[in-house]
Amino acid sequence: MATILITGSNQGIGFEFARQYAADGWNVIACCRTPDKADELQALADKNSTIWIEQLDVCDHSAIDALGAKYKNTSLDVLLNNAGIIGPIPIADHIHRQHFGSMDYAVWQQVLETNTFAPIKLAETFVHAIAASEQKKIINISSNVGSISERCLPAIAYGSSKTALNKATTIVAEQLRDRGIIVALFCPGAVKTRMDAWGQAGVGIEDSVSSLRPLIETLTISDSGSFRDYTGRTIAW
Ligand SMILES: NC(=O)c1ccc[n+]([C@@H]2O[C@H](COP(=O)([O-])OP(=O)(O)OC[C@H]3O[C@@H](n4cnc5c(N)ncnc54)[C@H](OP(=O)(O)O)[C@@H]3O)[C@@H](O)[C@H]2O)c1
Repeated sequence: MATILITGSNQGIGFEFARQYAADGWNVIACCRTPDKADELQALADKNSTIWIEQLDVCDHSAIDALGAKYKNTSLDVLLNNAGIIGPIPIADHIHRQHFGSMDYAVWQQVLETNTFAPIKLAETFVHAIAASEQKKIINISSNVGSISERCLPAIAYGSSKTALNKATTIVAEQLRDRGIIVALFCPGAVKTRMDAWGQAGVGIEDSVSSLRPLIETLTISDSGSFRDYTGRTIAW
């Protein structure tokens, strides 16, 4: 049975990934920062013995090390770096803190730690477990907002955190290619989650995840370093 580790699996896209992979019979290491408040995830785990909930704040590198030690003998088919923040919410009230002229550098730091540093730290920590698996995949959930050429949401912290994630991911993809590890970036689309601050997202959570899973399933090493959206379209850097 294949095993996946998902960060930020208590709500939104991460929760739906956990639900769908568990329904397909996968072992799901479902990470979230406050399991005590993750009622939906707890209910899902109660009905499904292949879901293991783990407390993890992805900004806490010692906690990532401890989790890596706990699972060091588990082969990990897919590391799904999903956890992310757009910045302080409600975003409409705080977006000025990501605008040129009124940047809040503490916000930028927090967004970078969550969206950029954490996926790379998780990949470093679990690389041996991934190398020991059959599928050998690291999936980083990015955003087309991180594309320099395609989209310009005026949110310096969030946008640059995903751009930096994209660049770091392409470097990691090259470094892990010889070990047969596939490293890929996906944008889930504009999805109706808590992140949809302006209520303009057009993609349902279930549709996004149902579309992403076959794309993840059919990845080969020649796709390593790619950046696509939930429809399979390649996103320009
Ligand atoms: N929704 C969109 O339109 C959209 C578009 C492009 C990309 N994305 C990306 O998709 C991913 C999932 O976002 P979403 O839309 O599902 O948003 P969401 O509903 O706000 O969910 C974000 C998840 O990340 C978790 N998280 C945030 N900071 C964390 C930390 N320090 N440690 C552990 N978990 C943390 C949250 O946990 P808590 O519940 O504890 O806060 C939550 O489970 C993100 O990487 C996001 O950038 C989303």
